[in-house]
Amino acid sequence: MKMKMVVAVMALFAVRHAWAEEQAVEVVHWWTSGGEAAALNVLKEDMQKRGYAWKDSPIAGGGGEQARTVLRARVAAGNPPDAMQMLGFTIRDYADEGLLGDLSSVANKEGWDKVVPAPLAKFSKNAKGQWVAAPVNIHRTNWIWANKKIFDELKISPPKTFDELIAISAKIKAAGYIPLAHGGQPWQEATIFDSAVMSAGGPAFYKKAMIELDPAALGSKNMEKAFDQMAKLRTLVDDNFSGRDWNLATAMVINGKAAMQMMGDWAKGEFIKAGKKPNVDFLCFQYPGTEGAFTFNTDQFAMFKVGEKQAKGQLTLASAVMNPSFQEAFNLAKGSIPARTDVPDTKFEACGKKSMADLKVAIKNDTMLGSFAHGHAMPDAVKGAGYDVVTKFFNHPGASSAEAAKEFAKAIEAAK
Ligand code: GAL
Repeated sequence: MKMKMVVAVMALFAVRHAWAEEQAVEVVHWWTSGGEAAALNVLKEDMQKRGYAWKDSPIAGGGGEQARTVLRARVAAGNPPDAMQMLGFTIRDYADEGLLGDLSSVANKEGWDKVVPAPLAKFSKNAKGQWVAAPVNIHRTNWIWANKKIFDELKISPPKTFDELIAISAKIKAAGYIPLAHGGQPWQEATIFDSAVMSAGGPAFYKKAMIELDPAALGSKNMEKAFDQMAKLRTLVDDNFSGRDWNLATAMVINGKAAMQMMGDWAKGEFIKAGKKPNVDFLCFQYPGTEGAFTFNTDQFAMFKVGEKQAKGQLTLASAVMNPSFQEAFNLAKGSIPARTDVPDTKFEACGKKSMADLKVAIKNDTMLGSFAHGHAMPDAVKGAGYDVVTKFFNHPGASSAEAAKEFAKAIEAAK
């Protein structure tokens, strides 16, 4: 009798186990900071409610360089995950290799075309126009996050010009604070460079240089101006910036050690996670000279062709990601705004509302432009060549801006 019971329990366990295996969806991502993890939890819980176990495969490293390297190796070994967090041109690369599954059945049924802005949907589809990725958000890179207490104490306001930014930074330094919290990693320098280029030449210039890769624009006076700004910003960071993770830099602003950080709005996710409120504890404003412009990156989930058994779970994940109320809940935690334009801004705080309003105008004026730093302006290999020049310059105080602009143009030309 006892033996029979044991066998029955074991059989039940085996069935359960097989069911769990079948129902699990493996997702590779780099969302490991406090704010990022909180946002991802919304998706994990949503998938669990839909009957799928979440097989979590995090690979730490802001900006996702490390995660992309691991993915490349897994794909080469014939072991891709079911789903992967992906940005811009990376999606295109894997789609061109024919490795991504077609999500069009869900996309067409749910009318994604009507709600996803065209500059973003361009990255969600393969060459045949089939949906191969589900966009979860819209991040913006040309933000500055500031500690309000420091601004109030020193009676300074958000700068309207780059010169004003340098002037308030002198006051901040004199009062014993670090003007700019920065993490010395290539993608973080590139994130600031997005704004410097936009500020130096405006949206039409940014588009010509960073997206159309026009050699004359790339080596122009405007590009030299952008490098000039980078050189001045280098004087505003502390001595320990090298290698620092972006969220630790955000924490320096949250804790009042530093006054500002130039970072995409995933930084806002950290402020929110720490219980801070915009216009009470922190300020958000555009890098001077980029008001109204919108350098975007969008996180998307691309699904690999891993066989019929997993396809249902993958389509379920795609549908979950595109659900309007999920997009609202997720983006409230992530710091970004929904990838769907039909989600109301009611529940978003001031910075989120501003981003949503600015996006509308940017879409109309064709100034919603892909971020260089986050893989939405140029193919990944070309981006990498650009990163090298920007980071080398930032780490060599005293280097010539004119030379750097020439080098930048040369590196992009050679890689494209
Ligand atoms: C970006 C990504 C964001 C954010 C950031 C820092 O590339 O799009 O979602 O998490 O990296 O890790």
